Amino acid sequence: MEPNLSVDFFGKIAASPLVLASGVMGISYSGMLKVVENGCGIITTKSYTVQRRKGHEGPVVAEFNGGFINSMGLSNPGIYEGMKEIADCKKRCDAPIIISLFGVTAAEFTELVRAVDSSIIDAIELNLSCPNVADEYGIPIAASTEKVFEIVSAVKSITKLPVIAKLSPNTYNVPEIALSAEKAGADALTLINTLGPGMIIDINAQKPVILNKFGGISGAAIKPLAVKLIYEISKLVKIPIIGTGGVLTGEDAVEFLLAGAAYVGVGTAVYYNGIDVFAKINAFFSSYLRQNNLASVRDIKPI
Ligand code: DHB
Repeated sequence: MEPNLSVDFFGKIAASPLVLASGVMGISYSGMLKVVENGCGIITTKSYTVQRRKGHEGPVVAEFNGGFINSMGLSNPGIYEGMKEIADCKKRCDAPIIISLFGVTAAEFTELVRAVDSSIIDAIELNLSCPNVADEYGIPIAASTEKVFEIVSAVKSITKLPVIAKLSPNTYNVPEIALSAEKAGADALTLINTLGPGMIIDINAQKPVILNKFGGISGAAIKPLAVKLIYEISKLVKIPIIGTGGVLTGEDAVEFLLAGAAYVGVGTAVYYNGIDVFAKINAFFSSYLRQNNLASVRDIKPI
């Protein structure tokens, strides 16, 4: 029998536990469709703000041995244009869609949530953890148990959609923040957003590679940190975790399930391995299940 890769996602069926991480191919409807056609189970959009944002001037991305740094500057067409792209995607495929929202205050988040058409969206992810706009907004929300509690509660009070809090690794008290999000009613957590920001200097040009100097670190370098936080926090909270951060291969994805993730986010790997990375990871899931005499990905139990 073919191993079963499909999973429940808040009452919907997803063909795979793989989630397109926010910020990658999740802007135009054609990009979203492509990842689903290539085996991705659940889509997360780029983070939307109320107004359109042009984002930072390039270069916005740079590679190093362990992955990438990026500082896109939350470029997005604004929530209202974004909803149109999502509607176009929903007409053509039934994969669950998580809309990512970025705000700073509870009022900003609730304004965004009111613009979400809940008939075509399956969950809301609150980006509480963008590392690249600290100059504009000050301390990241994700380092404050109080702010996380306030924002998650405010959002929960005005929507029936599942609410997912995306947390930052850039603070010593991530488990405490996770508990605060759960107490405020979060239905799931995404762990982790990018690390840092970090910096890469071009030694020939003798200046930073990306124009904004600093950028969030993604890719293989942050994977052990993601695994550790998923492992630790999944034992602390009852809500499911979308584990993301440096998953490049099928082996990495299984490692995240063993750490305690219910779903596995894939982002930077799309740059390295192309869009068929989802199909490749699914194929690995199937062979791993066969080898271990398991019928379903849900039989891969956390250690
Ligand atoms: C950006 C936002 C993020 O949440 C992140 O992790 C990296 C980059 C951005 O748009 O700049």
